[in-house]
Amino acid sequence: MSCDSEVIMPHAPFDRRYIWIACAMALGAGFAIAGHMSFVLGFSFAPGPGFVSFVQTHGHVQLVGWTGLLIMGISMHVMPRMAGVPLARPQWRSWILWLMTWGLGLRIAGHSLVAYVQPSPGAEIILGAVVGSGVLELLGIGLYIALMRRTIGGAPGGELRPALQPILPYMRSMMVGWVLYAGLNLILLTAMAWQRQVAAPALWNDIAVRCFVGLVLLPVTFAFSVRFLPLYLRLAAPTWPVQRVACVYLLGWVVEIVVQIPPVQALMPQGSELLMHTGQLVKAASILGFIWRLGVFTRGHLAWLGPASSRRQRAPRQAKKADQAFGAFEGLIVSAYIWLVVAAGSELWSSLMGLSGWRAGISHDAVRHLYLMGFVTLLIFGIGVRMVPGLMQVRRIASPGLVRVTLWLGNAAVIGRVILVGLPGPLWQGIPGWAVQGARIAFAWSGILGLAAVFCLALNLWQTAKLAPAEAASAPASAPE
Ligand code: HEM
Repeated sequence: MSCDSEVIMPHAPFDRRYIWIACAMALGAGFAIAGHMSFVLGFSFAPGPGFVSFVQTHGHVQLVGWTGLLIMGISMHVMPRMAGVPLARPQWRSWILWLMTWGLGLRIAGHSLVAYVQPSPGAEIILGAVVGSGVLELLGIGLYIALMRRTIGGAPGGELRPALQPILPYMRSMMVGWVLYAGLNLILLTAMAWQRQVAAPALWNDIAVRCFVGLVLLPVTFAFSVRFLPLYLRLAAPTWPVQRVACVYLLGWVVEIVVQIPPVQALMPQGSELLMHTGQLVKAASILGFIWRLGVFTRGHLAWLGPASSRRQRAPRQAKKADQAFGAFEGLIVSAYIWLVVAAGSELWSSLMGLSGWRAGISHDAVRHLYLMGFVTLLIFGIGVRMVPGLMQVRRIASPGLVRVTLWLGNAAVIGRVILVGLPGPLWQGIPGWAVQGARIAFAWSGILGLAAVFCLALNLWQTAKLAPAEAASAPASAPE
């Protein structure tokens, strides 16, 4: 029997709990802390003693709790279907979720409190809990990777379906990235507790964050884009060398990051900056190349931006039907890609400035949020409202109007978050005072706007879940639409 034949596999139904817990993490901690921090910084309040702990807790929860849990939940559903095999151990999903939720819960509570407790046995317990959170997360992530490897390794004849082949480098990078991040996170939390500090060592913490963003988040979003955007945005199926573009991206990323590792930097203080900018240049160029080949901008008035081969004509009626069923999800996906162009363009600019010796790069904090809030989060909003109803066996989103509100709130949050810190210093010189004040106010409110956008998404998905047929939770789910 050919492994490509359409056999009905006993696939496990979609586990919605990952969606609810990811939204709860974002609303209760990730974006809530963001709202607090942006208010403090934007309105120039004095940051409290726990501010650095809040920064790291916010970063960790946004990465692992918000985007990470969504990646886990959705990949455990769609990857087995792409590989044409059932999930190897569906019961592990509960264990993974349990470990991750308790790990993240301990981290949020412990790391937020640690700066406010005097040295005492109580403080030792809190630091112990923070280290414990790293252990639980490492176990949860290890179990998730083991499950994905077992599942994909279980494809008939060890052969991968064509659906998985092109995105393989991205999936491998994701697995390496998860393990690297979880291991580094535990080591850094242990170092922090050992030295009785309120935050993990900054330089290594930055490397850990870069590992997660560069090896997990961007590769997964690229893989999902290659697989699902042709369907959702009516693009041509990719006939370009997806694997080669992925390898160039990974090569650029490795060069950029390896030379920033403290011992490597100490070994070659002269050459490391040059290599870092070269790696950054290659990475940014490969991202721009990826966007161009994907052809997201080939529809409507931006059509001239994409190659002719990636344009596909379909009846506009189909687009109208999708818009009625899922709201402005296309707007969300296209905005996400516009922010990705801005992020990669900013990195390209910074690398060229660095290589030419001019110190006029764009702040790393702004670029990071262009990727994370602008691209990844808006893409989650867009793909979420388009894909998740189908996974719950519902044919439409509960409120298309709320999707439009999410679109506006999400984009306003990105603009507010990046404009103040993103514009290079000299540019502010010629800008009138009222505009600077406006940018400050926008920054201050950006966290709350982001929180409101996630709330709209969560509410919409919750209402959608109520439309699902009662038997959906127990019936084997079909391949994602
Ligand atoms: C509008 C929403 C957001 C606001 C207002 C916000 C605010 C902040 C602030 C003020 C910092 C500290 C910056 C610094 O120290 O230079 C920060 C750091 C960070 N943020 Fe956000 N953020 C938002 C959204 C996000 C999202 C959606 C993600 C990830 C998906 C994210 C991930 C991070 C990371 C990884 C860090 C660095 C943490 C560290 O240094 O350990 N943020 N954010």
